[in-house]
Amino acid sequence: MHTREDDAGAHPAVTPVYQTSAFEADSPYFYTRKNNPNVAELEKVLQVLENAEHAVAVTCGMSAIFMTLEILRPGDTLVVNPFIYGCSYKLLQRISERRQFKLVDLDFSEESNIEKIPAETKMVFFETPTNPFLKTVDIAKVSKFVKGNNPDAVIVVDNTWATPLFQHPLELGADVSLHSGTKYFSGHSDVMNGVLMTDRQDLADEFRETRFYGGLLLSPENAWLTRRSLQTLNIRLKQQQSVCAEMRDFLKQQPQIEKVFYPEVDGKQLKGYAGILFFELKKPDGYLKFRQELKLFSTGTGMACVTSMVAQPWSGSHASMTDEEKRQINIGENLVRLSFGLEEPEDLKNDLLGALQVL
Ligand SMILES: Cc1ncc(COP(=O)(O)O)c(C=O)c1O
Repeated sequence: MHTREDDAGAHPAVTPVYQTSAFEADSPYFYTRKNNPNVAELEKVLQVLENAEHAVAVTCGMSAIFMTLEILRPGDTLVVNPFIYGCSYKLLQRISERRQFKLVDLDFSEESNIEKIPAETKMVFFETPTNPFLKTVDIAKVSKFVKGNNPDAVIVVDNTWATPLFQHPLELGADVSLHSGTKYFSGHSDVMNGVLMTDRQDLADEFRETRFYGGLLLSPENAWLTRRSLQTLNIRLKQQQSVCAEMRDFLKQQPQIEKVFYPEVDGKQLKGYAGILFFELKKPDGYLKFRQELKLFSTGTGMACVTSMVAQPWSGSHASMTDEEKRQINIGENLVRLSFGLEEPEDLKNDLLGALQVL
């Protein structure tokens, strides 16, 4: 029972998975609900990528969002741009109802709406580019306006789609940049994780405490897999960027397509953009037929993977919103999301052409 290999001199080339819940009393890791070397290593890598003072790795993107809401108290005003992942929107609604936050929906990707953000706002939550439609929210302008009224307000940006390679919200005035690392960080649809990045010590302490008491630390195996995937983040994203831009131009020429949505890469806030775009089919009920013809695009939940994926926001990412809520933000059944992987662009074009031609 007490036989142990002394591995202190082993010096492995890669940090092994620390499959242990307990650490000896003199270890800084204490207990794997508090911290673990695999998680700590992943956080160091992410901090460098996003140029953040702190990274806090948790079980998935939704737990990261859930943890930001722990900051709020009954009566606090939470402002959300509704063009976000449907489950995030539902979570904000659900918790606001239960804890009596005042939830305000406002599309401040329209710049003129920024000044409509209430003065007493305690937290602002948004994605940029927005999901769907990939519109830009000006992080610096939102932060300046909100903090001008309330310096204690917390600006939260879900940076999942932009990625730390192409956008650094903290440098533009955000307090928290969070990620569903299940997407690009993993990149292979085989591991879930979430990350909260911040430069603020008070928020980092709060997140670490919530993670410890809530039991939300990322598992050592998932931290290890994610850390390995990050070794190829740069080349995956650059390839996805090139393929996606080529596909945008290709899809714009197709007569069955009404409109293609791709973000504005202004070189200041957003310095590049990887692999996800949207388009609207002219045929209102064409999605299923189109999807069934595709051979190289899988239909599984998720995106930002090395293999291409097709999805319908109406029935997928935004399914938890009511039909009325979806219509209010212009999500129709003809809206299609494509996430491009690392296949040959010509193969993807042929596949898409074949599927569009049946419409
Ligand atoms: C932008 C964005 N944020 C958060 C999430 C939730 O992340 P997870 O599925 O890792 O919990 C998703 C999931 O699709 C997402 O697209």
